[in-house]
Amino acid sequence: MTSPTRGILIVDLGAQYTQLIARRVREAGTWSEIHPPGRALEAARQMDLSGIILSGGPASVYSEDAPEVPPQLLELGVPVLGICYGMQWMCRTLGGKVTPSAEREYGKTEMTILRPEGVLMGITGETTVWMSHGDQVEKLPDGFTTYARSATCPHAVVGDAARRLFGVQFHPEVSHTERGAEMLRAFLYTVCELPGDWDAGNIAEREIRAVAEQVGPEGEVVLGLSGGVDSAVAAVIVQRAIGDRLHCIFVDNGLLRKNEREVVEEAFREHLGMDLTTVDAADRFLGRLAGVTDPEEKRKRIGHTFIDVFRDEASRFERARFLGQGTLYPDVIESVAAHGGSTAVIKSHHNVGGLPDDLEMELVEPLRELFKDEVRRVGRHLGLDERVLMRQPFPGPGLAVRIVGEVTPRRCELLREADHIVTSEIQAAGAHEGLWQYFAVLLPVKSVGVMGDARSYEDACALRIVESDDGMTADWSYLDRDLLQRISGRIVGEVRGINRVVLDITSKPPGTIEWE
Ligand code: XMP
Repeated sequence: MTSPTRGILIVDLGAQYTQLIARRVREAGTWSEIHPPGRALEAARQMDLSGIILSGGPASVYSEDAPEVPPQLLELGVPVLGICYGMQWMCRTLGGKVTPSAEREYGKTEMTILRPEGVLMGITGETTVWMSHGDQVEKLPDGFTTYARSATCPHAVVGDAARRLFGVQFHPEVSHTERGAEMLRAFLYTVCELPGDWDAGNIAEREIRAVAEQVGPEGEVVLGLSGGVDSAVAAVIVQRAIGDRLHCIFVDNGLLRKNEREVVEEAFREHLGMDLTTVDAADRFLGRLAGVTDPEEKRKRIGHTFIDVFRDEASRFERARFLGQGTLYPDVIESVAAHGGSTAVIKSHHNVGGLPDDLEMELVEPLRELFKDEVRRVGRHLGLDERVLMRQPFPGPGLAVRIVGEVTPRRCELLREADHIVTSEIQAAGAHEGLWQYFAVLLPVKSVGVMGDARSYEDACALRIVESDDGMTADWSYLDRDLLQRISGRIVGEVRGINRVVLDITSKPPGTIEWE
């Protein structure tokens, strides 16, 4: 076992913001792990524990479905910060009183600081915080005092400095809480006495050691590269751990962006010297997609074809018992979430991660505990090509979900050319900073145009340009008029077969980012 890292245990009591807490803690240079209440004590024992954060949650401490939190967490001798529900649970458990209220208090609230100490170290006067709660603490447990209050909440921040237990009724992790990041840092640095020196170098070393340990001195790993950042960084970590006992497979499904295959081959085979096999499977994928127009059916066929192709290829590496994957922490947490039923399937996502269990290989997932921004930092630290690192997210089913209607080789080619113009113009203008994705979508619509003196009747494409933090929600972005003009002029002028360009101005929700 790799030795545990000094850090914070975040107990997930069902809040929608729990991952955000973990990110803020990591941003403050501190290792953190999220666990549901049922596993919290065991995790606390396995970690080199410096503090605990109890998240918020939708339940009332009085309701039957209130999560059962082990009270021993308050007796481990490490500092505890309870957020919203976490604070109410802590106060009630220690003998205080929580009052149920008929209405939720929701939104920005002005808070007055009474004691600029503990989690409020260095913060004085008034500050805006984000509240979202029904119940609130009415009577404090013995030993606790009030550190801040608001007009509606007499105990907005409470604490017992001797036992190093603190509670905040609002959400310091969301950006609407003006000085929330400072408060979390005060908890980590001042109360928990953590050094805040956890960085990309530590993360990389930790993961490389863990892979070397898991795979052993002779084990071999097969890993599917998708061209995206996650599988790329996972591959670099595994390579550092086991060298040429890593075998990478890149499936060219015929649905890739322009030059994608070349960039991947150059970055991995030439620069990093990896054992990389490219499988030319375009005909197989496009054959299975012929005549199909239903978006879910397309996704399914692509997913199944990928599995078939990958399985055939992986079986050539007879000695490889391990399968490398670029699974990220948010995927892991989602699958073990303490609360929340199954969410409706909007789209059946497909990743190179979407492989069936019957491959009978043991998974090696060096990014299992990392967030996307950390993955990029680790990749950069390990010297991965910037062109791979700064790639826009690209869906597993590739251009197929951006070709509305039937996917044919000709339509792939049209979209590939139009998309290349969009990407290269936006990048050349430096307008890609701050954008999450920017690409073209081919529509199943023909329209009339006039080219020179002749009539044209050709396809239309849409520009999809969005800003987003995580792809869960997104805003459309309005680029400079001249840049849009240049993109549209070049597409219509250079891509034979497209004579009209439209702009998608739909946010997510209600739209999704991809069209299918
Ligand atoms: P949507 O279209 O659901 O996309 O708003 C949200 C984000 O996810 C990406 N996406 C995918 N990524 N496999 C992936 O790996 C998929 O099947 C897939 N579908 C969508 C999309 O590009 C956006 O960033």
